Amino acid sequence: MTFAITAVTGQLGSAIAQTLIDRVGPEQVIGLARTPAKAQRLNIEIRPGDYDRRDQLEASLNGVEALVLVSGMAPPDERIGQHRNVIAAAKAAGVKKIVYTSIQGPEKGTPFSPIVQSNRQTEADIRASGLDWAIGRNGIYIEPDVEYIDSYRAKGEVANSAGDGKCGYTTRAELAHAYAALLTRPEMTGSTADLNGTPITQARLTQYLNAAFGTQLTYRAMSPEAYVADRTAELGAFFGPVIGGIYDGIRLGAYDRPGDFEAVTGRPHQSWDDYFATLGN
Ligand SMILES: NC(=O)c1ccc[n+]([C@@H]2O[C@H](COP(=O)([O-])OP(=O)(O)OC[C@H]3O[C@@H](n4cnc5c(N)ncnc54)[C@H](OP(=O)(O)O)[C@@H]3O)[C@@H](O)[C@H]2O)c1
Repeated sequence: MTFAITAVTGQLGSAIAQTLIDRVGPEQVIGLARTPAKAQRLNIEIRPGDYDRRDQLEASLNGVEALVLVSGMAPPDERIGQHRNVIAAAKAAGVKKIVYTSIQGPEKGTPFSPIVQSNRQTEADIRASGLDWAIGRNGIYIEPDVEYIDSYRAKGEVANSAGDGKCGYTTRAELAHAYAALLTRPEMTGSTADLNGTPITQARLTQYLNAAFGTQLTYRAMSPEAYVADRTAELGAFFGPVIGGIYDGIRLGAYDRPGDFEAVTGRPHQSWDDYFATLGN
């Protein structure tokens, strides 16, 4: 069986490819990349795969039986069209199964919701495609909070609008494990799975960061308006409200979900005790 992964130059795409290589061997794994030169270190066959180029995608999917479509980064309307290019190319090339990396999140009422809705539209397009399919809905990556530790340290606190809301974070490594299972396990075909670890509050996340990095951060809940203003000052008028919308989603419970990770993979998601024990100090 020949598998392909799109966006294989990215952090999630490369992690999924590496997990599959470890599981089925490099001969059965093909990477698609918008920028193929960046993907050579994987030591697998790399083919061009720009989401804006349907014909190129169709040629690159020749001989592929099952495909992971890693969600793109373009604005919502553009992204829906790009994903439709991949789905149409997969059908035309004779791909039998498509697995999509979707997201959890607030489906309405926040500035992040249009991005969530664009993922829901691609889910609907995939279910209607006539191909076999499986869909994962990713929790929020925890790695950016860890990579932000120097900024948190400088501020002395974690401050955002999530309040007491719980968030089922995940890691790209755990997602890669789950997507390999969604791709290779026939019994996963036709399933939509929440992929996240145990939901935790921002106060608990702050404790984990303190334990891993020897910091004495505190958590401070901000109003949604104040947090959007804070993020907009740092990230600009588009990304500021989007990040604010994600934390609104946490406060509103959109990420407080038990998750289907164990049903998909046959083992529990890595615990946050274990994950943070591998970091820092
Ligand atoms: N759950 C979360 O917390 C979270 C956070 C951020 C993002 N996401 C989603 O997760 C996805 C993957 O995340 P990541 O960590 O792997 O991001 P990443 O490391 O930034 O990688 C993004 C990938 O998308 C590729 N790409 C962008 N536009 C493309 C196009 N037109 N055609 C083909 N490939 C294109 C990039 O290719 P190039 O190398 O050519 O640029 C790169 O391989 C993102 O696309 C986003 O939808 C989720």
